[in-house]
Amino acid sequence: MTIEEKIGQMNQLDPSWNAEEKEALIREGRVGSVFNIVGAKEVNRLQRMAVEETRLGIPLIAARDVIHGFNTIYPIPLAQGATWNPALVEQAARLTAREAYGAGIRWAFSPMVDVAHDPRWGRVAEGYGEDTYLASVMAAAVVRGYQNDQMVNGKMQKCLAACVKHFAGYSASEGGRDYNTTWIPETQLRDVYLPPFKAALDAGAMSVMCSFNDLNGLPSSANPHLNIDILRHEWGSDALLVSDWGSGSDLVPHGLVADKKEAALRCINARMEMDMQGNIYTDYLQQLLEEGKVKESQIDECVRSILRMKYRLGLFDHPYVPEDQPMVYSSRELAVVTRTAEESAVLLKNDGVLPLSVSKTLHDQTLHDQMVNILICGPLADQPKEQLGTWVFDGLPERSVTPLMAFSEWADSINDMSPLAPNRPPVTLLYEPGLTYSRDRNREGIARAVAAARKADIILYFCGEEAILSGEARCRADLDLPGSQCEMMDALAATGKPVVMIVMAGRPLTIGAQAEQAAAVLYALHGGTMAGTALCRLLTGRAVPSGKTTMTFPKMVGQIPLYYNRHNTGRPSYDPPMLIDSIPIGCPQFSIGQSSYWLETPTEPLYPFGYGLSYTTFEYGEPEMEQTQDTLFVSCAVTNTGRYDAYEVVQLYTRQLSGDLVRPLKELKGFEKVFIPAGETRTVRFDLNRGQLGYWHEQKRDCESRVWFATDPAEYEIWVAPDSRCTTHSVRFSIEK
Ligand code: NOJ
Repeated sequence: MTIEEKIGQMNQLDPSWNAEEKEALIREGRVGSVFNIVGAKEVNRLQRMAVEETRLGIPLIAARDVIHGFNTIYPIPLAQGATWNPALVEQAARLTAREAYGAGIRWAFSPMVDVAHDPRWGRVAEGYGEDTYLASVMAAAVVRGYQNDQMVNGKMQKCLAACVKHFAGYSASEGGRDYNTTWIPETQLRDVYLPPFKAALDAGAMSVMCSFNDLNGLPSSANPHLNIDILRHEWGSDALLVSDWGSGSDLVPHGLVADKKEAALRCINARMEMDMQGNIYTDYLQQLLEEGKVKESQIDECVRSILRMKYRLGLFDHPYVPEDQPMVYSSRELAVVTRTAEESAVLLKNDGVLPLSVSKTLHDQTLHDQMVNILICGPLADQPKEQLGTWVFDGLPERSVTPLMAFSEWADSINDMSPLAPNRPPVTLLYEPGLTYSRDRNREGIARAVAAARKADIILYFCGEEAILSGEARCRADLDLPGSQCEMMDALAATGKPVVMIVMAGRPLTIGAQAEQAAAVLYALHGGTMAGTALCRLLTGRAVPSGKTTMTFPKMVGQIPLYYNRHNTGRPSYDPPMLIDSIPIGCPQFSIGQSSYWLETPTEPLYPFGYGLSYTTFEYGEPEMEQTQDTLFVSCAVTNTGRYDAYEVVQLYTRQLSGDLVRPLKELKGFEKVFIPAGETRTVRFDLNRGQLGYWHEQKRDCESRVWFATDPAEYEIWVAPDSRCTTHSVRFSIEK
């Protein structure tokens, strides 16, 4: 390859080029990847230029932000995490890959695995929440789903290349403000932020994307510690490393370098291999080579990585995608979309009003307390586009089923069955949105909604955030329901009718006051194409909620950062030591020295991590434990003591009681989502090996051993629990030297 051809491979074409310029560059072999070109025919047309008209015939790779679905949209990743069902998340990614592949896309810029502690940051919507272990499990599931094998002309090839992002620490931006500075000590980087990347790479992720932030003063695209020491040397990864959009040229505004030429030098020295949009390699790399500042071997390493990914995807054998892929989902596939939305909704409160009907079969629905006049209201009740959530470029809102549509269909089917159930009164649906969009401050519609509420037996209030309020650069300074939604809740509650609040948002919101007014709260986040169907099925009891939170819900913004696996402080001190989190809010009087205090702990969350109710109840037995030198076997019997067959997410937490460093209050080490029929018991087993209790020992770095993850010999406590807050049923064990 000539130098021009090599540098060409390192160029991801900026979508803003006009068609003529773009095609000329491709024909000259000066493009390695095209970005945001969609449609099998168009991708194949450009591909023919690369394959048939360039000297070497190296195929292009077409990239796209495929984040949570393609044309058919799945719940946002934060919601997918709330399913706690990696098999379902993998299946969602597999179907997404097929749809995107049908449009010529071979490289998806996801999963995003940034562990996030600050819900003000708009990009929490794109990740899997605050826990490293859960994010790692989900990251691997998405990679497996995307990179599944596809049969093309009798040969297998990979469907989509995954791109795990943003490497690294992006979510720790100060104040939750996007792109902002991050300061992350090595211990926290290794224990909290990096493991999901490693999990994605271990699952085979073919590429990694740099992040925008400066990490301890060094932006990721120019960070040899991240990109060379850790990614290449320690982890031995040969995945392709692509910049984020212009993150290489951003070194200039960051203030790291004086100009773009120096930016190109810093980036190649940090082994950033492909330049997305920045044009720093196309403009300066050859010059840097001629000046002897860059070696050709550095360029070769990058190009080898790019060609390797194309080869692994099967692009050299089959550069073209079929142009006749069916693009519309079958009902079997839509069932997966619906189920993902169903399992991602979290029931946060229920005073017994839900489910609205108490039988699971449609023709035999008994409506609760004669709740036959149902008011559907709120700004998200009938918004086909908003329910899709952030990062939706190819999603088709015309395919969305909104809550209003789904309820209308449900009411019609019930009423059609009335000859079979002559004593059942017909269901009447009233619809009055009250507000037209989530930030709407015009209160005129609220009066109409209240008038309708007076005629209703129950109010379903679909509130939350429009899609544009979360995602990249969508950070918020307060986390209340926007617009006049809180006032609308006050007005609805004042009617005295039961209000079920269904929140469709991109993040946890501070809904404490509204939740108190509500009879029930179902936290759905943005549920995608089939959100309406899923919510209707849940609210009417044809599906039972099984989602659990993946981020702690703060009561107020001032509590942030608030996450379950933070450290305990030294005060107040208790003998014997207790988890400060087990102090109930506003209650205990405690003493330090001579003084007594009434404590309203600022660490009391509105809802904790891992929390979610069901229509049934579960009883946890005492965990049983067996221990060998290397492994702990923990088992726990869980009984469904209620009336509904249902899924439960059984969670395993540990706490280390002493060690070389202070350890988190609790750490999730395993979970299993189990189906337990009403009245039955299932025993859930976890194997925990010694290594899983280890953590990064920065202070041991200078020792002879090169392994800085170590497990302290110490006493530990273990819980098998329905959420992170539960403190009953623990057992203790020791790890010997
Ligand atoms: C910037 C975002 O940070 C990244 O996640 C995305 O994949 C790229 N732009 C491409 O759109």
